Amino acid sequence: MNKILKKILIIGSNGLLGQAIVTLFTRESDFNLILSSIEEESFLSYGQEYVQLDITKKDDVKEIVKHLSPNVIINCAAYTAVDKCETERELCWKLNVDAVKNLIIASRPYGIKIVHYSTDYVFDGVNGPYTEEAIPNPISFYGRSKLASENALITSGIDYVIIRTMVLVGTGKNVKPNFAEWLINKIKNNESVNIVDDQIGNTTMADDLAYGTLKIVEKDCKGIYNIAGGDIISRLEYAYKVCEVFNLNKKFITPIKTNQLNQPAPRPFNSGLITHKAEAEFGFKAMDSLEGLRYLKVQLGY
Ligand SMILES: NC(=O)c1ccc[n+]([C@@H]2O[C@H](COP(=O)([O-])OP(=O)(O)OC[C@H]3O[C@@H](n4cnc5c(N)ncnc54)[C@H](OP(=O)(O)O)[C@@H]3O)[C@@H](O)[C@H]2O)c1
Repeated sequence: MNKILKKILIIGSNGLLGQAIVTLFTRESDFNLILSSIEEESFLSYGQEYVQLDITKKDDVKEIVKHLSPNVIINCAAYTAVDKCETERELCWKLNVDAVKNLIIASRPYGIKIVHYSTDYVFDGVNGPYTEEAIPNPISFYGRSKLASENALITSGIDYVIIRTMVLVGTGKNVKPNFAEWLINKIKNNESVNIVDDQIGNTTMADDLAYGTLKIVEKDCKGIYNIAGGDIISRLEYAYKVCEVFNLNKKFITPIKTNQLNQPAPRPFNSGLITHKAEAEFGFKAMDSLEGLRYLKVQLGY
């Protein structure tokens, strides 16, 4: 392990991924962690320092980064409501792009490394699954904003890692329900759901992404890495697996096509992230969807 990597500032530590990272890093590493998010208080309390910070505020970011002087910043904060990004474009850009530039500006004078997350939405979904070398071509505003954040880091000249992931599943305090939980709740209430059969990709357990991040930080990796779930299937197949694991009746699911949903943001259809690079470099092996759902079942206390 690189001895220089000691103090880590986790931005967005109250989010789904942020909480998974704080929990795993606390358990599995001896890094000195400082937690930070926009809320007044930390949702987790393992005894680490918590700093309230809105990363869209450039001067605050500069001051706090200078004061805390971390070796690494892990940025889990983002505007992740994909459909809302189409209408709330300014807000989306402010958090997904301008705030990343604030982190870059604050980090540059001190040689701080930034670990940042991106998405398969940087691709158009025509020829997936994608390796790290595939050429991005976003089709939604969210995807464009995340690609712009990648480009801000790539051209910044600072030490960075971009971790691309997709469809996060997991649990946490006060986090928005993910797709699996939404589906479980609907079917348990005997409500019918329409699930698309034409969107293909990985689902990723937040804990697997946290583990991949830990390896990336420990090995001081640089550049772009895909970290995503162990299989690539359609959203409909995933929904059927949810029913299998949680003993739910599949009859409540009606298969539909994406264009029947009339969602504001276009989705990449034939997507997915290939994780061979992470497998080869540090033995990353994520749960497949069935394993992930069994893990979620335990996490949810079923
Ligand atoms: N979730 C997915 O399926 C998915 C898929 C692909 C990639 N990703 C990427 O993975 C990363 C983590 O996603 P996630 O699902 O864990 O997101 P999340 O649960 O929405 O967490 C983001 C956290 O950042 C906080 N935050 C919002 N605005 C902030 C600000 N101005 N300053 C500081 N913190 C702020 C949020 O607080 P509030 O909740 O109070 O706003 C929240 O606690 C993101 O980069 C995302 O683009 C996610």
